[in-house]
Amino acid sequence: MSGFTNSPFEGFSKLSLEQRLASLQSFIGLTQEDIDTLSVHGCGLSLDQAEHLIENVVGLFAMPMGIATHFQIDGRDVAIPMVVEETSIVAAASASAKWIRRNGGFKTRSHGKLIIGQIQFPTVKDPMAFERIVNANSGYLLEIANETVPNLVARGGGVREIQVRLLERPDSDTMAVLHVLCDPCDAMGANLINQVCEALKGPLEQLSGEKVGLCILSNLVDTKLVEATCEISDITPELGHAIEEATLFANLDPYRGTTHNKGVMNGIDPILIATGNDWRAVEAGIHSYMALGGRYHSITEWTYTDGVLRGRFLAPIAVGVVGGVTRIHPTARVSLKMMGIEHADDLARICAAAGLAQNLAALRALCSEGIVRGHMRLHAANLALAAGARKHEISLVEEKLRQEARITLSRAKELLEQIRLASSPVVVAGNVVAAAGRSRE
Ligand code: MEV
Repeated sequence: MSGFTNSPFEGFSKLSLEQRLASLQSFIGLTQEDIDTLSVHGCGLSLDQAEHLIENVVGLFAMPMGIATHFQIDGRDVAIPMVVEETSIVAAASASAKWIRRNGGFKTRSHGKLIIGQIQFPTVKDPMAFERIVNANSGYLLEIANETVPNLVARGGGVREIQVRLLERPDSDTMAVLHVLCDPCDAMGANLINQVCEALKGPLEQLSGEKVGLCILSNLVDTKLVEATCEISDITPELGHAIEEATLFANLDPYRGTTHNKGVMNGIDPILIATGNDWRAVEAGIHSYMALGGRYHSITEWTYTDGVLRGRFLAPIAVGVVGGVTRIHPTARVSLKMMGIEHADDLARICAAAGLAQNLAALRALCSEGIVRGHMRLHAANLALAAGARKHEISLVEEKLRQEARITLSRAKELLEQIRLASSPVVVAGNVVAAAGRSRE
């Protein structure tokens, strides 16, 4: 597979499912076992494995996995697995990635690598004395903290710093919150940091004479940001300015900002699901980061100057590639392999690039033909299915639906009925004289 963009995935969308799997095998080096995990074994997870993940298991829930193609991130071709139910997300990400690829691809980088654990003291009697005691004993506290996670320390990670924050309560007393900053290496780190915080509780109460409340990580990981950028020069000034204007709208108006950011997350959540990561944590972290300044704003920034559209994504993405579900779920393992991911940071950067691409696709559509036409075109097959079309009827309904002004479920049902009528046997005086199109059930 090759084309003018030199993407190894040129033509991927035109292949049959079997051909797509074969190309994954040859391009990415997936083994037959990996391929079977994706296709033969359905969602890859056995009921036995599921029983170890959550409680009261009664079954499995399958979702489609598609490959977002044409991504070139920091000079590397990446096939991105996306697990998602919404039509057009995979196609839109791929189309944007192809456009960005033609313009030099995505550049990414990380800012910081520490996650945050919080130890709360609901009311401290003497805030200044408390702060002094914690700071004076920080070496001892760090030692206890790191003794709790010896394997992490052996891998080069561990707790680096303890910060004191003082917050004014509504009753005018002071709440103290310690931030325990930890390098989780390739883990998302929730379990690690929670253990550390709980281990520090006793020593802190003894040292300070104050009472600890909650010990838990913070999902607002503004100490671990990831950035993705791109530059596009083959764009008309009208579209370039319109996309810049769309960012302004998202920044000025949280009602638009929320939808804009939902579009960004359309590119990220499917990767988090495909890799068994905690997408609720990333969602919570990103949205609260976007509201940190007091007003909710856009995750992405698009500017158009001198004929170039420049896009930037900047947000916290705390993910892991060791521990948790990432290594237990067979499909998550294949997903990481597919993207050639060794470190959590690689995954975060891919998520950032995919979020930026997805946002560009939405803005490009919104600023030109609108979102409905393209989305509904791709949605036609779903509507055919929902209308009750059988396997051999789906493409017939889909084709007719795409030519319609009204792409709705009721129209799909009407078209299906017409197709069935047209292919019904024609009976003349009790004899079947024609049965057009009734060769398959
Ligand atoms: C739909 O899933 C996402 C969009 O609403 C995003 C946006 O409006 O920017 C199209």
